[in-house]
Amino acid sequence: MKRILITGGAGFIGNHVVRLFVNKFPEYEIYNLDQLTYAGNLENLKDIEGKENYTFIKGDITNAQFIDELFIKYQFEGVIHLAAESHVDRSISDPLAFVNTNVIGTVNLLNAAKSCWANDYSNKLFYHISTDEVYGSLGEEGLFTEETSYDPQSPYSASKGSSDHFVRAYANTYKLPIVISNCSNNYGPNQFPEKLLPLCINNIKNNKPLPIYGKGENIRDWLYVVDHARAINTIFHQGRAGETYNIGGINEWKNIDIVKLLCDIMDKKLNRPEGKSRELITFVKDRAGHDMRYAIDASKIEKELGWTPSLQFEEGLEKTVDWYLSNTNWLENVTSGDYQNYYSNQYQS
Ligand code: NAD
Ligand code: TYD
Repeated sequence: MKRILITGGAGFIGNHVVRLFVNKFPEYEIYNLDQLTYAGNLENLKDIEGKENYTFIKGDITNAQFIDELFIKYQFEGVIHLAAESHVDRSISDPLAFVNTNVIGTVNLLNAAKSCWANDYSNKLFYHISTDEVYGSLGEEGLFTEETSYDPQSPYSASKGSSDHFVRAYANTYKLPIVISNCSNNYGPNQFPEKLLPLCINNIKNNKPLPIYGKGENIRDWLYVVDHARAINTIFHQGRAGETYNIGGINEWKNIDIVKLLCDIMDKKLNRPEGKSRELITFVKDRAGHDMRYAIDASKIEKELGWTPSLQFEEGLEKTVDWYLSNTNWLENVTSGDYQNYYSNQYQS
């Protein structure tokens, strides 16, 4: 029996990781710890909430005493840490929230694991989920490898980079068994519509403008979220302790091109005339400090652990659009209330 704590399991990537572990490993006990911030949603987990090997715990990783007591109570053997503030634009308006959750929250978990495991590290693992954004911004050439120096440019990526440093410092100083992975942009079902693709899907559906920052020339490397969850499973079970693995889609797109492709898919699905949704594209003021290009060299995880993305991008994007179009209640629930305030503040000018 393995007791695994997954943090942030009610969020976008977390719910796919929880689902994969709960379904694939009935002999494990999976504990999902989530504070249910605006980004966390238990509706994401309706299909598995009754499973015997699954327990949900509502709680805040910034509360050190609560986290310590949780480790004493449940004696977790593995941690997969995803809980975070994850949106760059929000980090620009409220950096301290990112320091609290991403840095202090991570250190609280490291401390609790360290004292709970009390130097008996056999069959223990602290797996920290990070982002390619810690490496900074690329020019036209090159890819981020595991050896690329950290050069975070936004408050979000600075907080994630800082948490990665703490995780490595605990491995070096206290010999805590850790592993870190840094993944590129994810897309897929259940992503909160503050991020580019679900925001545009929601706006196309409602015939609202599609706000493209700057000239739309920034490039991201997109990976289907279920493929990220598969990579996390592979690394958790086969990754070497102390190592870092980059995960990416080998799938670079300029923002303007990906939004045009999305418009074309949505026109077909909604029976709109070809080209109709593209008329909604609106160029708006650029994001402050907007990173130009991210792209991952995923050869280490492929060579060492045999992981590659399973889905072609167009197929993944279609699946994603289908999910949003058939889960209108989910979309309506998450876009009512606070979302409206967020949206009008973010896109006011
Ligand atoms: P998300 O914002 O959708 O979900 C974050 C989850 O963490 C939510 O369920 C939220 O309720 C929970 N949470 C936030 N603060 C908490 C706190 N103080 N205590 C407990 N729970 C808290 O994020 P996501 O997109 O699913 O990202 C998950 C992880 O993967 C993050 O660490 C992020 O940095 C990383 N990541 C994301 C991407 C991406 O494209 N989304 C890419 C690479 C890495
Ligand atoms: P986002 O989904 O916020 O992910 P990240 O900033 O972590 O890469 O943004 C993806 C890209 O899309 C990024 O270059 C910023 C851009 N973008 C827009 O052009 N308009 C928007 O409304 C948003 C949210 C993002």
